[in-house]
Parts: sequence; structure tokens; C-alpha cells
Amino acid sequence: MEKVYILDTTLRDGAQSPLISFTPQEKLEMAKALESLKVDVIDCGYPALNKDEREAVQLIAAEIKGPVLSVLSKCDIKELETAIEALKDCNKRRIHLYAPTSEVQLTYLAGLSKEEQLERVLHSIDIAKRENFEVELTLEDSFRAEKSYLFLLAEKATERGVDIINVSDTVGIAIPSMVRELVSEIKEVVKGDVIISIHCHDDLGMATANTIAALEAGARQAHLTIAGVGTRAGNASLEEVAVALKIHGEKLGLSSDIDLKNLYKTARIFSKITGYNIPPHKAIIGDSAFAHKVEYMQLAVVREAKTFELINPEEIGYPKTRIILSRYSGKIMFKNKVEELGYQLDEDKLEMAYLKFKELTEKKREIYDDDIIAIIEDVLLTKPKKVTLKSYFIKTGSDEEPEATVTLLVEDGERKATSTGDGPVDAAFKAIDEAIGMSGRLLDYRINSVTSGKDALGEVFLRVKFKGKEFTGRAIATDIIRASIEAYLNAVNKAL
Ligand code: KIV
Ligand code: ZN
Repeated sequence: MEKVYILDTTLRDGAQSPLISFTPQEKLEMAKALESLKVDVIDCGYPALNKDEREAVQLIAAEIKGPVLSVLSKCDIKELETAIEALKDCNKRRIHLYAPTSEVQLTYLAGLSKEEQLERVLHSIDIAKRENFEVELTLEDSFRAEKSYLFLLAEKATERGVDIINVSDTVGIAIPSMVRELVSEIKEVVKGDVIISIHCHDDLGMATANTIAALEAGARQAHLTIAGVGTRAGNASLEEVAVALKIHGEKLGLSSDIDLKNLYKTARIFSKITGYNIPPHKAIIGDSAFAHKVEYMQLAVVREAKTFELINPEEIGYPKTRIILSRYSGKIMFKNKVEELGYQLDEDKLEMAYLKFKELTEKKREIYDDDIIAIIEDVLLTKPKKVTLKSYFIKTGSDEEPEATVTLLVEDGERKATSTGDGPVDAAFKAIDEAIGMSGRLLDYRINSVTSGKDALGEVFLRVKFKGKEFTGRAIATDIIRASIEAYLNAVNKAL
């Protein structure tokens, strides 16, 4: 198996995403996670950009000793000196030079002719080599450039001792066949020990496919980011390429050193540091990546996970397959869940619980464990309801102490009580306590919106202690005060 070097550019290209930013300290934390993930190279940043970039590189260089550390620089003496300075105390160091190659970028980005660009590239390689840096040259916008110019740059850079030539699909325009062709051609030009690398953007949603195509054609380094974040539509995502190499490695004769067990954890650390929410449908690491909602698939996955999963989630450190209970789940999966939660219900009770579950699926998209527990408790403790709500009245305002009046129907008629409280819900609970002559201590109170829009249903889940014992209550209504009162009465009925 040949090794594919993984260059992680989350801290450089990833940080260029409008959604991502790192402080220097946060970059260091992320670099530690990448080191544990066993990436080969960390693209730490672009020192010429600002003071924070330089500080981050220095912090990383002082602590991270495993991967090669790389910094970006234009082929420009001043930028290059800044980059060299930023990594001066690092042993495993790389200067990553970039050079626009397409006509449009040469004209409007660099303002250089092809000859001037070539000269600058070669001069920059000479300087970085003299300073004992490994040198990577990115042929920016390769797929819109004249091939003859790319070949010339690659050939001359090789003669000057460049270590890595990175073919970059800067605007994400390529398709796999184009990538295969260009990488093979550049490989022919450079020959020898120079490593061909690939950097793909996802503007057409092909970054991962293009990266794999490049590896098939002989590239041996891939630029990747966690969750595929990066400029505009992002870069090829590390977890996708790493898992693709795991699954198809044998056929491709390729493998990486990525510690797959750390994949999910690294993505979570990234999300925590940056506040970036990984989209639920993100391949490999998203919340839905190993979630099954439809009963026939759930049944199959429970029998044999391979029916619908391409890899065992444990192999990438993913918590576990999620069986989502919803309106698409039938009785078998419901029963499985009840048993998984540690309950044994006889046939009648199971049927009752299942009917309540079905009712709830009409109102909620996903049914959580807490919902199932509340349903089971309801069923197990079902006695005829002793107390029900007849009506309530709430008085509140910015300058008024909230006051609630509740009228309850009980076995021997009606009970009515009024109370004030810290808020309208608290006042209503106190009024109920007074009406039933039993005082409850609220231990947990949660409110969720279960549908969207102005008339969304609010779900209240609470835990309350009466006479030293805990009871749960749950209710759903468009009015959250009503849902709170009903949930509280639900618990009261269990306690009576
Ligand atoms: O997209 C690109 O071409 C880049 C290079 C600097 C590698 O990010
Ligand atoms: Zn890029």
C-alpha cells in the first residue's frame, strides 16, 4: 500500500470561510486535535495577513512536534521573509508558496505576466530552500490555466528542488476526468521524488470525488479540512477522504495514517472551538449520518448494520447507530426501544403505550427517549384521572406581579384557587398546589417547540416532587401556559 499524506488546511483555508474564525489560542487547541488525528501536515496559516496569524503559528510551533508545520506565502520577498520568521524555531517546517496560473488570475489577482510569475516562483523557491525549508508550490487555479504554462512552472520548480507540487482547483470547476488527466500529465513532467498534491474546492460538490480521482492518477498528498469547511463552498472534507481510503484503500493500493477512531471526536472539538454547527446531513460526522427513521430499514440495521451502513460507526468514534422513532416506526421498533430503556410491559400495556406513541408522532417529528419514558410511566401509573383542568386565568405585565387563577374538576366538584408567583407558570403551579392541598417542588422544567411557525406546538416536560417522591409530567399545546398546567396536572394525577 502506498501512503497518502494528509495535509489539513482547516486552520488556513478553513479559517477563510465566512463562518469560521480562530483566536491564536483556539488554533493551538485545534492543532493539538489534528496532531492526535495523525495528520501529516498542518497548514497553520498565512503569517503575512496579520499579527494573530503570526502569533498562532508561533504558539503551534512551540507545542506541536508530530506533523510537519506549513505556512502560506505569496511568491514575494516580504511575505516570504515573514513566513520564514514565523517558523524559524520549528524543525519540521514547510513554506507553502502559491502562484496564480490562469490568465484571469494572473491579470486581476497578481497583476503579473507569465514570465514575471515564473521568475518570482523560482526566486522564492531558492530563498526558502536556502533557509532549509521543505517547499510546496501551489499552482493556483490550475484547471483554468494553459497547460503549457503549468508544465513549464512544474518543470522549472522541480529543477530548483521543490518538494511538493500542489495542483489546485481553486474555483471548484473541475470534474474527476479532468483531474485524472491533469495530475497524470503533471506527474509525467516532474518525475523523480517530487510529490504531487491536490487541493479541491467544492463549488460543484465534487471536491471529494476530485481528490480521490487525483490520488488514483498518482497524487500522494491531499489538502483537506474538517467538515469540508473553507473558502466559499469549502474544501474536500478530511473525514470523507479518510473513510473513502479506508473502504477502497485496497483496491486503490493506498492508505493514510489518519487515526479513524479520532475522526468524530476531532469534528466535535472543531465544532466546539469555532461554534460551527456541523450540518446534520454531513457525510460521516453529521447527526443523521448513522440515523435510521423508516421501520424496514431499522429492522434490517438491527439485524445486520451492514445492510444500510458503509462502516461501523464505532470505527470512527461515532457514538452509535441512531434508531429514530417517528411516525415511520412500527410496533416492533417501539417495543425494542421500550426494552432498551429497561421496561417490560405486558401486551395490553404495550398496546396502550404504542397508541399513545402513535398519537405523539402526529405532533412531533422525532420522539426522544424522555418522551417514551413519559409514555411508559403514564401507562404504568394509569389510574382514572382525579384532577382535570376546567379553566385558568392569568394576569401579568411588566409592572404587575403575575397572578394565576385555576379551576380544577375533582371527584366531588370544583376547586378554585388563586396565587401569585415568580412568573405566570410558577403562579399557576402554586394555585394548583393550593387547590389540591398538596405542595410540589419542581425539579426540572423543559419547554421545546415541536413544530415551526407562529402556531408552533410547545411541549412541556417536567419533573416534580410530591411527598418525597418524584413524578414526571408531559403535555403539548399551542399555548405554553396551558401545556405547563396540563403537564403539572399530569404529574399531580400520578401522585394522588
Ligand atoms: O484554493 C487555493 O488555490 C488555495 C491555495 C492557496 C492552496 O487555497
Ligand atoms: Zn483553497
